[in-house]
Amino acid sequence: MPSPPFVRWCIHRDIPAVVAIESASFAFPWTETEFRIATKQKNTICMVAESCDYVVGYMVYELKPDSIDLLRFAVDPEQRRWGVGKAMAEKLKNKIGQNVRTKITLYTRETNLAAQKFWRSQGFRATHVERGRYPDSGEDGYRFEYALCPASPLGEAAPINTWTITEG
Ligand SMILES: CC(C)(COP(=O)(O)OP(=O)(O)OC[C@H]1O[C@@H](n2cnc3c(N)ncnc32)[C@H](O)[C@@H]1OP(=O)(O)O)[C@@H](O)C(=O)NCCC(=O)NCCS
Repeated sequence: MPSPPFVRWCIHRDIPAVVAIESASFAFPWTETEFRIATKQKNTICMVAESCDYVVGYMVYELKPDSIDLLRFAVDPEQRRWGVGKAMAEKLKNKIGQNVRTKITLYTRETNLAAQKFWRSQGFRATHVERGRYPDSGEDGYRFEYALCPASPLGEAAPINTWTITEG
């Protein structure tokens, strides 16, 4: 049994492993240059999940004024279905509610059923369909959101789990 995934900041020497997982995970992957450019942006952050000294997953997200927008998220194909994705999603969810950012947003391709099931399992809800979001494949994008109420009667943030489907 591998050691539980530990999610930490991505450092320079993680990038080749991140790019390898990206290439094995997506038909239209980001290149190493795209990762390096994105992670040099002031508001863009890359984190990796590590187990037994190996990078087994990563995520890239952008800090917006009131939200966290997920740009990339993947787990090594050999390391799926034992909680790596969940560990990264939990890390992300812990980053909202502590400050002005109260929601996490992301898009999946319409054919990416595994990702849609994964995000549903993590408490995210589909809120919007953006027609033709992915010109490379002609697919629509499904927007998922995890949002916290600004305040609950207990004074704690709580997830909003309502469906609001709109056409893009
Ligand atoms: C989607 C992805 C990140 C999930 O990562 P993972 O580490 O395998 O996910 P977890 O093991 O934490 O799974 C948590 C839960 O999500 C759901 N889930 C995950 N993968 C699933 C799949 N292929 N089919 C159905 N449900 C799935 C399950 O409910 C699972 O719980 P269970 O294993 O107890 O049934 C991974 O499949 C991946 O990297 N896919 C390719 C890249 C991608 O699509 N990224 C998302 C872009 S938005």
